[in-house]
Order: sequence, then structure tokens, then C-alpha cells
Amino acid sequence: MTQDEMKKAAGWAALQYVVPGTIVGVGTGSTVNHFIDALGTIKDQIKGAVSSSIASTERMQALGIPVFDLNEIDSLSVYVDGADEINAAHDMIKGGGAALTREKIVAAVADQFICIIDNTKTVDVLGTFPLPVEVIPMSREYVAREIRKLGGNPVWRKGVVTDNGNDILDVHGMAIAEPKVLEARLNAIVGVVTNGLFAARGADVVVMGTPDGVVIS
Ligand code: A5P
Repeated sequence: MTQDEMKKAAGWAALQYVVPGTIVGVGTGSTVNHFIDALGTIKDQIKGAVSSSIASTERMQALGIPVFDLNEIDSLSVYVDGADEINAAHDMIKGGGAALTREKIVAAVADQFICIIDNTKTVDVLGTFPLPVEVIPMSREYVAREIRKLGGNPVWRKGVVTDNGNDILDVHGMAIAEPKVLEARLNAIVGVVTNGLFAARGADVVVMGTPDGVVIS
């Protein structure tokens, strides 16, 4: 089974968590693209979706799924999204696709976070995948210096501008033993919009595609 087939299996299996008649929060990435395709087949059973990126919005609209502005609604039943790394406590690194800030906002509103992954995403300790940090462009070098003081090696993702018009620093070389602590510490640096640690609000359910089928934890 290929990695993409495992992503597809997870994306389609996440349909079981969609609550009929509600608005669904939708993340970003190649695994979510499979979920969006699946959601399109039951679009008449939901009110619509809130999206975490322009890319996901365009994919849903092409399938006829109504996409709402988050400010128009006051609740979301579930948020379905992928991850770049996830540990046993369901803390995650996200933002490989640069959509981390909107992802964190939509996730914060949702009753349940359903994380869809293939089996390459699980780790014992977060940090092998470089941790994305979204920064206001004029603060980029200041934030990079502050991150170096914390022991990380930040690398500017040149040529990438987020949907919010900001820059991304990818932080290499950190073994993240305490994700909640680092998440809060990074967010306290002036100029940081958000960082890709999802630990204060981790995943409630993980739907993982494996060569032997879908495993839920
Ligand atoms: C987007 O910014 C990320 O948080 C994605 O959710 C993450 O990179 C997972 O992507 P894939 O599903 O493409 O592996």
C-alpha cells in the first residue's frame, strides 16, 4: 500500500465522525484533500464547512460544498485535519503546508479534533519534522534570534507567504519533550502569530491509515 493510499483510507474513514446537519471544520493538506472528496459525496447531509485555507476552500467549492466564514457561525461539531508529526499523547506538529494559524483557529472552535494521518506520522518525541512558526514579516529576524536562545535553529521558508500575508520560520534541531510548554513560550515572542505545536489543543481522535487497514486511537 502506498503512503497516498493510506492517507486516502484515513480521509474516507473520517466520514464516520461527521455529524449530519452541522457545519464541519476542514483542514489542509494531501490527506485532507481525500477527506474533502469523501465529504463531497455526503454534501447534502451537512450544512456546509469552514475552511482553514484558500486551497481547501477552492477544492470544496469545486465539489459544491457550501463554505462559511468562521465569523458567521458560533459552533463546529468536528474539525478534521492532518498532521506532520503526532506523539502518543496526540500532541502534533502541523504547518508543513503553511496553514497553521487558520488551522489552529478553526480547531479551537470545534467540539472535536479528528486527526487523519498515514502511519509515517507517529513519533515518540516531536521535533524531527521542523517546527513551523508563522511570524509578522518585519519581526522575522528578531523572532529567529529569540528562537536560537531556546536552542532551535530557525530557517526562513523563503518564497512562501501564508494566506495571512506572513512569513514562516521552520525550526530545526529541537527534541520537544514538553510540547505545551514550548507552544506557550514561542507564542509569547513578540511578532509570532502562532506556532505549529498543537498541544494545548491536541487531537481527540486519531484515524491512521496503515498497510493493515485503518487504526483509530
Ligand atoms: C498544513 O499546514 C499542515 O498542517 C497539514 O495538516 C500537514 O502538513 C499534513 O499534510 P499532509 O496531509 O499533506 O501530509
